[in-house]
Amino acid sequence: MKEEFKRIGKVLLTMSAAVLLLAGCQPEKAEMVRPVEIPAGEIDPEVWGKAYPVHYDLWKKTEEPLPAGKSKYRPGFDADRVTYDKLSAYPYLALLFNGWGFGVEYNEPRGHAYMVRDQLEIDSSRIGAGGVCLTCKTPYAPKLEKEMGVNYYKNPFMDVLHEIPEKHHELGVACIDCHDPKDMSLNLSREFTLGKGLDALGTEEGKLSHQQMRTLVCAQCHVTYNIVKDENKKSVGIYFPWQESQLGKITIENIIAQFRKDPTIREWKQSVTGFALPFIRHPEFELFSNDSVHWMAGASCTDCHMPYTKVGSAKVSDHRVASPLKADLKACQQCHAEGADWLRQRVYAIQDRTVSMQIRAGYATATVAKLFELTHQAQADGKKIDQDLYDQAKEHYIDAFFRNLFIGAENSMGFHNPPEAARVLSDAVAFAGKAEGLLRQALAQAGVSLPANIDLELEKYLHDRGKNKVPFRPEQVVEDPFGNQEKLTGKQI
Ligand code: HEC
Ligand code: HEC
Ligand code: HEC
Ligand code: HEC
Repeated sequence: MKEEFKRIGKVLLTMSAAVLLLAGCQPEKAEMVRPVEIPAGEIDPEVWGKAYPVHYDLWKKTEEPLPAGKSKYRPGFDADRVTYDKLSAYPYLALLFNGWGFGVEYNEPRGHAYMVRDQLEIDSSRIGAGGVCLTCKTPYAPKLEKEMGVNYYKNPFMDVLHEIPEKHHELGVACIDCHDPKDMSLNLSREFTLGKGLDALGTEEGKLSHQQMRTLVCAQCHVTYNIVKDENKKSVGIYFPWQESQLGKITIENIIAQFRKDPTIREWKQSVTGFALPFIRHPEFELFSNDSVHWMAGASCTDCHMPYTKVGSAKVSDHRVASPLKADLKACQQCHAEGADWLRQRVYAIQDRTVSMQIRAGYATATVAKLFELTHQAQADGKKIDQDLYDQAKEHYIDAFFRNLFIGAENSMGFHNPPEAARVLSDAVAFAGKAEGLLRQALAQAGVSLPANIDLELEKYLHDRGKNKVPFRPEQVVEDPFGNQEKLTGKQI
């Protein structure tokens, strides 16, 4: 009976997969609400809401807490726990990010309604780059960038925020960010970021399929970006590091190649190593679109995060954008015949493996950072360090650091592309291992002896951070689900 059931499930999936492939992977269509023309350039969602009250109400709901206990790795914002501190969850990050805002306060994302509010609440070191920080937050960003030019990037965050009408200071992603007011078709509003990113990939917006557009509206923000700095370290621009890539093949290797090429995007100095580095943020689009099973099957971000839902008699795309786990995996069941528990277990199995490797890669990379600190100390004490070994170690360290960052900053804990996440993290472990070996060799040659386990001094980085005095929350530490953490990293938190 059980076998039979499984088989039927499989057939259903295969059939739906075949239909999906043919039909460009659209499970079912929402009944198109009669499109009402909205005045050109209208930013105020309340005006749009008069024509589309059901969509407006769902969009507003992103400010409500989500049910607790339904997601293992994205506890996020629920009624009990308002913030979830990434540096407590992964303590090695506090060491790696020490030196700027991300090492002070770095929280899990929450609902779309909070994007600007969270910027106002977080430690002010996080908005130090200036107005540029509003780029993937306010629907006014394209207008402000056009009107203010370089001052949009450069001027203090609060000054640029005050260019926005008072009523909308805290307004996050709005209808106009994703829709053309004329006919509600999907539209990309950020020519100055994603528009240029698509140029770099050699792709024209007009050539994208409807299904790709259902991913690209999200790729306006759920991508990694770099802030360009002038010689005084002021922000003067922003771009996506896709110059070496094509659509469907943005790899971490290509991103790092661009990092090595462009010295103007070294936004911060890592205090432990003293290295000036670029950074990686939320590369959901990059990881997902790089040959993942779901991307290749024609699925889109919208399919999983905005599934069709019934509200009264209307059938609409769920504008309460959220984790599909917190919506009981209904999105998945548009295509998969299996039950919610089975699907949830599949997600957890993928995430457990990813997190295990991520913890290993994280501690391995942090150990190398600390070895660089010891190496610099040895140099300061007059010891002679072999330059060639040092240079090789530095290149390997950079390779490990950005791979680690790439998967750690990506928000699905590997689900968006499990084999790619595993590949990138296993390379991170390998690069960190090489760097550690080279530095140990250089230090041994210089007559410095080291213990087997390097003390990361995590307490130094974890406690009482910044103006908000963010405390270390030991109860939020994510443990290796396979119990190998201490054996593999020599670390116990
Ligand atoms: C204008 C930029 C922007 C666009 C466009 C955008 N997002 Fe987001 N998204 C954000 C930001 C910023 C956050 C984090 C908000 C916070 O934590 O304050 C976020 C958070 C999320 C979350 C986490 C929600 C939670 O409850 O924790 C999900 C899921 C998400 N976005 C999916 C999507 C999808 C799918 C799309 C496309 C349909 C999309 N986003 C389009 C900027 C954007
Ligand atoms: C096949 C389904 C699927 C597709 C397609 C998909 N996601 Fe996800 N996404 C998930 C799952 C499952 C998670 C893990 C949620 C969890 O752990 O609670 C997730 C997590 C996320 C999160 C973190 C959510 C949170 O609550 O913190 C964000 C943000 C996100 N996805 C954005 C995107 C974007 C942007 C795209 C397209 C580039 C995309 N997703 C494509 C299924 C999908
Ligand atoms: C983050 C991007 C995003 C935002 C913000 C957004 N939408 Fe949508 N909306 C979508 C996507 C994606 C679809 C699916 C469209 C498709 O497949 O053609 C959609 C579909 C729709 C539809 C067509 C019917 C349906 O349910 O599929 C309407 C009407 C609509 N949205 C209204 C609104 C209104 C009103 C707002 C603001 C209150 C809004 N949307 C905000 C992304 C967004
Ligand atoms: C738009 C349709 C669609 C949606 C929505 C969808 N899937 Fe899939 N999924 C597919 C197709 C098609 C395949 C490939 C099937 C195959 O090769 O047998 C697949 C493959 C998978 C696989 C096996 C491959 C892998 O990456 O490990 C898992 C697990 C999976 N899906 C889970 C989910 C979960 C969980 C969700 C919801 C968060 C979801 N899917 C949403 C269509 C979909």
